[in-house]
Amino acid sequence: MATRAIRGATTVKENKKESILNETSRLLRKMIEENNIMNGDIISIIFTVTKDLDAAFPAAAARALGIVHAALLDFPQHEVRDALKMCVRVMMYADMNVMQSEVKHIYLNGAKILRKDLVEEENKIAVALDGPAGSGKSTIAKLVAKKLGLTYIDTGAMYRSVALYCIDKDIDYNNEVDVISELENMNIGILSANKEQRYILNGEDVTELIRSPEVSEGASRVATYKAVREKLVAIQRELASKQSVIMDGRDIGTNVLPNAEIKIFMDGDVEERAKRRYEELSLKGISVTYDEILSDIKQRDHNDSSRAYNPLRKADDAILLDTTNMSIEEVGDFIIGKIDDVIKKD
Ligand code: DC
Repeated sequence: MATRAIRGATTVKENKKESILNETSRLLRKMIEENNIMNGDIISIIFTVTKDLDAAFPAAAARALGIVHAALLDFPQHEVRDALKMCVRVMMYADMNVMQSEVKHIYLNGAKILRKDLVEEENKIAVALDGPAGSGKSTIAKLVAKKLGLTYIDTGAMYRSVALYCIDKDIDYNNEVDVISELENMNIGILSANKEQRYILNGEDVTELIRSPEVSEGASRVATYKAVREKLVAIQRELASKQSVIMDGRDIGTNVLPNAEIKIFMDGDVEERAKRRYEELSLKGISVTYDEILSDIKQRDHNDSSRAYNPLRKADDAILLDTTNMSIEEVGDFIIGKIDDVIKKD
């Protein structure tokens, strides 16, 4: 036998003694069971807690499980901005008959996202976020992705990239045959840089270029073409197959990821959505009037929901969220709460 180190982590819903001890106990039992460890072979356990958990010493959960001979120590977790909250981390040393590479590290509840590399296929999660233009999807998706460590995928950016390609190459995006004949020349991808997604079209970073009103209009047109949708949906599914994602768009819950664990359909009054988009573009220095934005959004709502292929529609199992009178924080908290509920069912 040799001494091995086993990592584990979990999150707790409330800063209450009972919650901390119950979740820590569940985590320890799972670490012990999954690694076939005898109680007497545990040498020591180090626990850390984030500073929002001060109602109990998690080490007490180990004693309650009958781990009496091991040396136990509680530590405060090193604080990192925006890191996972209400989290108990564990490092257990035990004598075991396996190689260190065979040790099973255990991540429960929201803490699964701390080790995306260890998360098994069935533990991956997908959050589908659909809704009309200006409903706040991208702001919320970025916020949730950052808080939970999910990869954010903006599918609208891909339709925008197709439109930008057409505009740059002087191809009429209203002409379906012309657009489709160029599809194979469009290499559309995402690159992660500094925890941010950059959208790449044929090797060029187009993240900012795809935000103009002209591109918005073109994107809404090319998104009605079946061949365009098929190409982009294949890329989107491939991305979601490799990692836990929060993906926003129009057809994510209904078509791209019909088995997503959480589906949210965000809606809002068209005037409020136009106001938000107007403020967003004004901040970026793009000069447009509120009335132009309002009529553009109405047109896009019409295009997006009336097209034949995968129109904008709430999936039957999606949660409808009207964000007209909600702040960004309220929407973010609501969605994170839903994700937490799903994760904690495991
Ligand atoms: O979300 P956005 O405004 O960036 O999207 C640009 C256009 O792309 C929008 O008019 C609808 C279309 N789109 C789509 O049809 N399906 C998606 N999954 C995402 C966007």
